[in-house]
Amino acid sequence: MRGRTVVVIDVLRASTTIVAALYNGARGVIPSGSLEAATELVVKLGIDDVLLCAERDVRQVEGSDLGNSPAEYVHDRVRDRLLVLATTNGSSAILGARGAARVLIGGYVNAGRVVEALVNEKEAVLLCAGNNGGFALEDAACAGFLLRRFTEVTGQEVLPINDGAWVALELGKRSTKSPLRLLRRSAHGRYLDEEGFGGDLALCAAIDVWPVLPVLRDHIIVPLE
Ligand code: MLT
Repeated sequence: MRGRTVVVIDVLRASTTIVAALYNGARGVIPSGSLEAATELVVKLGIDDVLLCAERDVRQVEGSDLGNSPAEYVHDRVRDRLLVLATTNGSSAILGARGAARVLIGGYVNAGRVVEALVNEKEAVLLCAGNNGGFALEDAACAGFLLRRFTEVTGQEVLPINDGAWVALELGKRSTKSPLRLLRRSAHGRYLDEEGFGGDLALCAAIDVWPVLPVLRDHIIVPLE
């Protein structure tokens, strides 16, 4: 990843939540690798406008201010706030990319902004957060969607550098028309639905609704101007 731009994709739901937060006016999002570290940081920062946003097994952690549902990250709740975010997979995936030249956060909701940022890149890494160390259909499909968009915009074919990129491209073809259908079929999508978060799937599948590009700067994710 060194020297390259990395786009971290956790469609369900950390990427989408971060995009929603910044679109609705949050000052920044600090990704945290553990609940303990996130809680300590919030105490250390000790300022009124910090929110602890924490999710485990898709549910909001008791005592935190917000969970990981993009629906919660509305203007009234997050505007001008600094958020410390600890999610099961997404926030750790972002921290894992820290050595890269540039770390961006992407999903369907900001696809156009991500593609725009990749137009002049010779090589980029689309880092699919996955689910508990395993493959996640929705992340690979979104990566494929972004690659296909890149080709539409630039006229350049994307050369997959590994098998994962090849699979992503194939999946991208399927979800171009209806990411929501694919999200509903995915294992994590079905689990979210069972746990009462089915409404989040439509939010996470909506293309280009929140045109903001989150970028990691000095440990804080902020919107790229
Ligand atoms: C994660 O970071 O693991 C996910 O965003 C889980 C979730 O759906 O809350």
